[in-house]
Amino acid sequence: MTPVPISRRRALILGGIGAVAATAVAIDSVASHAGSGTERWSPADTGNQLNQPAMVDSKDGRLELELIAAAGVRLAGRDTHALGFNDSSPGPTLRVRPGDELAVRLTNRLDKPTNLHTHGLRVSPLGNSDNPFLRVDPGTSFDYLIQIPPDHPAGTFWYHPHHHGMVADQIFGGLVGALLIDPSPGQAPALDVTADHVLMVTDITLADDGTVAAPSAMDRDRGREGEVVLINGQHCPTIPADPGGMQRWRFINGCVSRVLAIRLQGHQLFQIARDGTYLPAPAPKNEVLLGPGNRVDVLVRPTAPGRYQLSARAYQRGSMGSMTITSGFAGLATMDVSQIPVTQPLTPLPDALPVETPTMGAVTAQRQTIFAMTTGADAGAMGGGMDGANDAGATVFTIDGRTFDSARDDQTVALGAIEEWTVINTTPMAHPFHLHVWPFTVLASSDGTSPIGTPQDVVLVPPQGWVRLRIPFTTFPGRSVYHCHVLDHEDLGMMATVNVHP
Ligand code: C2O
Ligand code: CU
Repeated sequence: MTPVPISRRRALILGGIGAVAATAVAIDSVASHAGSGTERWSPADTGNQLNQPAMVDSKDGRLELELIAAAGVRLAGRDTHALGFNDSSPGPTLRVRPGDELAVRLTNRLDKPTNLHTHGLRVSPLGNSDNPFLRVDPGTSFDYLIQIPPDHPAGTFWYHPHHHGMVADQIFGGLVGALLIDPSPGQAPALDVTADHVLMVTDITLADDGTVAAPSAMDRDRGREGEVVLINGQHCPTIPADPGGMQRWRFINGCVSRVLAIRLQGHQLFQIARDGTYLPAPAPKNEVLLGPGNRVDVLVRPTAPGRYQLSARAYQRGSMGSMTITSGFAGLATMDVSQIPVTQPLTPLPDALPVETPTMGAVTAQRQTIFAMTTGADAGAMGGGMDGANDAGATVFTIDGRTFDSARDDQTVALGAIEEWTVINTTPMAHPFHLHVWPFTVLASSDGTSPIGTPQDVVLVPPQGWVRLRIPFTTFPGRSVYHCHVLDHEDLGMMATVNVHP
């Protein structure tokens, strides 16, 4: 397939950005002239058995591979102009161990700059490691070398582009992949599972010719959500299971803006980890909640034969003016539990998990940071994000009153500090706060949810609310970023730098 450059596709799809009604009329008139239906793109693989992305393992302490970002992948059983790594969305699952080095040559065959972020990894943000300030131009390659510390927790992480201004387009387009840290030999908890699945959830909107829909200004303000929700690039796949057996499912919310409140019909989900770190013990849940970027690992124990729907319920994530902003209901998959008679009892859940002991020490500083949004004339006066993303008068998303500037140090922290941050949200919608490199524990939240006590890297800050976090800056020096993981907001300016100096 010949990939059509994104800019041209955009021009083709939307004669008038933001003119939703006009676009619909145009499609109708094309349909009547052509005399055939122009049905929207629809999945062609619903119900197929769940696939896993290709798995690439480290050998002798090193994982070396090339990731080629390009347009033209199969999604949900159809050829599309969506984006992928190595012809696939999600890209290959990278599997490494603590102490390994991850050597990735990123080759950019897109028509826009890109780069690579290892989301959630506790690794250096400097040089050619997990450095969000790097820029890999179209037609070029860049060699990343990421040293995974020997004491890195084992768990579920992911990778995606992070070039400011293009992040939402590129992730929505399909540039995501799972990154698993396996336990070091001898450190594994006794999880007696018959299957260990990555469930990478993404959403996308495609035109009937397989081009990715461009968002309107309104879509970006709310945070775009795709019409089709996919797991591992498949639409509502079937997950086979045997009664009595136990499976591990690693959910990754790779959606640009969608919040996932996931349930499995007729079953509890036994949560064992969040954002790549274990809970103290399996926690039975009727629902697990993932903001954009979050991961949740669960154990599933199918009970009786039958077909059970895995779905995300409608979740209201805020409002704008008089309109509510809701992540709509989405069917995700069907668990198909076989009729095989099983005599053995349910596989026992582990009593305890290898939970991490938190970094000890007194809090050395407190600070607060404010996530806000300005519309209209004020926004025009404030300037805007990069790349002319904000026209004067459009909505501007800020942190502490400013849009992102990669050259400015917004927070300066001494290496070794243990800080308490209060993240304040003055807007009527939830923003998922994400900090690179240095995971935090949530101490309290304005919505009253009880903190889980283990480190995480994304937390939803409630509308007109706040969260209080404890952040040990004790591991790596260097500059990196924190931002809203509704990636449209990040691209519109809701990102700031933190410089941790030795
Ligand atoms: Cu998943 Cu800074 O991002
Ligand atoms: Cu946001």
